[in-house]
Amino acid sequence: MSGQGYLLWVTGVRLTEYSHGAGCACKLGPDELSVVMSAVQDHASTSHPDLLVGVRGSDDAGVYDLGDGRALVQTVDIFTPVVDDPGDWGRIAAANALSDVYAMGGTPLTALQYLAWPRDTLDFDTAREVVGGGLDVMSEAGCTVLGGHSIDGPEPTYGFAVTGMVGAGSYLPNSRAEEGDTLILTKPLGVGIITTAIKRGKCPPDVARRAVETMTTLNDVAGRSLAPARAHAATDVTGFGLLGHLREMCLASGVGAIVSATDVPVLEGAEELLGLGMWAGGSQRNLKSILDFVESEVGEDELRVLADAQTSGGLLVALARDSVEEYIHLVPGSAVIGSITDGAGIRVTP
Ligand code: CO
Ligand code: CO
Repeated sequence: MSGQGYLLWVTGVRLTEYSHGAGCACKLGPDELSVVMSAVQDHASTSHPDLLVGVRGSDDAGVYDLGDGRALVQTVDIFTPVVDDPGDWGRIAAANALSDVYAMGGTPLTALQYLAWPRDTLDFDTAREVVGGGLDVMSEAGCTVLGGHSIDGPEPTYGFAVTGMVGAGSYLPNSRAEEGDTLILTKPLGVGIITTAIKRGKCPPDVARRAVETMTTLNDVAGRSLAPARAHAATDVTGFGLLGHLREMCLASGVGAIVSATDVPVLEGAEELLGLGMWAGGSQRNLKSILDFVESEVGEDELRVLADAQTSGGLLVALARDSVEEYIHLVPGSAVIGSITDGAGIRVTP
């Protein structure tokens, strides 16, 4: 955490106290979402001849063909505080919102900002720091913020709707993973566990700082490297955890997967905090909803890390074996974690 975060803590303002959950762990669970989405799936408004990727699948962003070889990539991501420092929270929200464009192989172009703020309990200087952090990351991404909306709300809530561009024939859905593909993850897991510890005031500062670094790191390099490495499928790991997002990829592609738990990078300190009971409600729902799909040869705690709800997590990429070296070379911190198999279901090996 930064010095500002410490100052705020001393003066008694801890942003995570104003949030009922943490980041993407606040998302509706897969089972809850399927109830809501039944109103959306078959609605006339969600289909169009130029729509390449829409809400009827389970992809990261919508893709709409402009008819001139280009396509729009659009997504929205909004959440409550995951950390106490307002600037850090703004930066994380922006990096997270941009991530879904990168996960489709797109380049962010413009964004709209959304802020809900409890005017009676939090001051507006703090809100200014949140927005400042968010805009800094949008600049870093080369994404122009052209508007937004703010309201008085019971919980501080912040995020962006992002529009990007992609070649109409070169976007990357999560439905084209092939048997024999290698699986790569570009950021370590564990931020759900760590942000739960931050919210409970139980996180060592160095562990929190590394988690903030991870969450504010853009997936731009990981996204730009998908095309040169001829990746087949990609998604970003967020609220459903690694296993939840891998399940979506498997179902969409009609394949299965093997994940080697010891090969999955995990943030330092996360496993210790999990041992102390730092485990978000959203992650528990994740684990429950994937158990039918997973055949596990590892212990309960290892499985919990793999189901941990991430905020601004890395890309999960499926690509041919002979492209692995090229991708890993282009994307620092990325790691091979398993492979795509025929059949259905995810096997987790030690
Ligand atoms: Co996503
Ligand atoms: Co999203």
